[in-house]
Amino acid sequence: MGPLAVTQLLALISLIVAMDNGLVRTPPMGWMAWERFRCDIDCKDDPKNCIREDLFRDMADRLVEDGWKELGYEYVIIDDCWMSMLRDEHGRLQPDPSRFPGGIEKLARYIHDRGLKLGIYADMGTHTCMGFPGTTLDKINIDAQTFASWGVDYLKFDGCSSNPIELMLGYPLMSKALNATGRPIAYSCSWPVYVGGLPPNVNYTFLGEICHLWRNYVDIQDSWDSLQGIVDWFSNNQDDLQPAAGPGRWNDPDMLIIGNFGLSVDQARSQMALWAIMAAPLIMSNDLRNLDNSARFILQNKMAIAINQDPMGIQGRRLLQEKNHIEVYWRPLSHSASALVFLSRRTDMPSLYHTSLAKLKYDAGNYEAYDVFTDSTVKGLNATTEFTLSINPSGVVMWYVYPEQHSKETETLHYQHKKASQFAFHKAEPAHLTVL
Ligand code: GLA
Repeated sequence: MGPLAVTQLLALISLIVAMDNGLVRTPPMGWMAWERFRCDIDCKDDPKNCIREDLFRDMADRLVEDGWKELGYEYVIIDDCWMSMLRDEHGRLQPDPSRFPGGIEKLARYIHDRGLKLGIYADMGTHTCMGFPGTTLDKINIDAQTFASWGVDYLKFDGCSSNPIELMLGYPLMSKALNATGRPIAYSCSWPVYVGGLPPNVNYTFLGEICHLWRNYVDIQDSWDSLQGIVDWFSNNQDDLQPAAGPGRWNDPDMLIIGNFGLSVDQARSQMALWAIMAAPLIMSNDLRNLDNSARFILQNKMAIAINQDPMGIQGRRLLQEKNHIEVYWRPLSHSASALVFLSRRTDMPSLYHTSLAKLKYDAGNYEAYDVFTDSTVKGLNATTEFTLSINPSGVVMWYVYPEQHSKETETLHYQHKKASQFAFHKAEPAHLTVL
């Protein structure tokens, strides 16, 4: 097929498909099995951690009882390895009977009864990435209908064991098939990963019309190296990726690994901060039954969540890479506010960073800044005020910056900020910050 034919085909498909159906207006939040629990199907020797219905019920219980749900973490998402190797006599996918004896429908009911939503995994190809039955083109309708009939609310549609033409046909067809079920189902597409993640192979405008979110790049692993590789790729390609995001259409740099084994406390803060800047889905893959308090505090940080969930839905950008390996990230937010993240890529010691808001391209004016991880406010910042931050190695300082209140109008604005973040401001200045 020539490039023109492909463009025409895509244009035609986009006329018949519209995924802009009011779902996921802010990045989805929840929990997903893959990064932490992978394809562990050894329920005999590893009953607590294998992929089976109990694991998802346990996580649903934790989301509700440990305060996650009220913060917005609402999706419980099954990843690969839930299926039986065989479709049923009607050609429908079915769960492995020994690991999901109650079936997916019953699990969906359990999850819905707790005010949560259920996600499931399938693959546009002959097999899933772990070799379970795939969804070939002829199976798209039946699989969409099966998921809807079970009460599924989110589909992660992977792209292993396929080819570019089949992917190009299949992803829009699944979008159409999900729409046709009449059930609102958030649609996460892994298509970009399998075609290089960038234009011209990926048409992000079109993707935004058929999918709610999409994986752009390689899988995250439980390490700081993996996380840095992902952040660098997204930032190096931000001119292509950043404009693609908006309400109902999100880039997905992959799961939050906070609470696992690979990140220090500083690195965990960095992931939370950078995912908030990137307007990334906040989908944890960790063991909510065994989470230490530092991971819990970071993942439940209301201001970081509010920044991530900002209703304008504008993805942020890397602003600066300094020679001394400090990087600055920025995201515009509602109510003339913004978020700044100062990330240290150094590996020596806490380093001082001297700057001013004017140097970070802020307009003249008076500002206040709320330090997200120290729960403190910096007042009396003029755009030209020079300030100094101390940033830990592989750590961040994250600021929520808003115009200073000085009139009735800005008081209302400030009230809105408070409401948006569900946070009280006006705390003492953080110890590590000197406003010069
Ligand atoms: C791919 C995806 C992962 C996960 C696995 C499952 O690698 O990118 O997120 O779903 O498949 O096999």
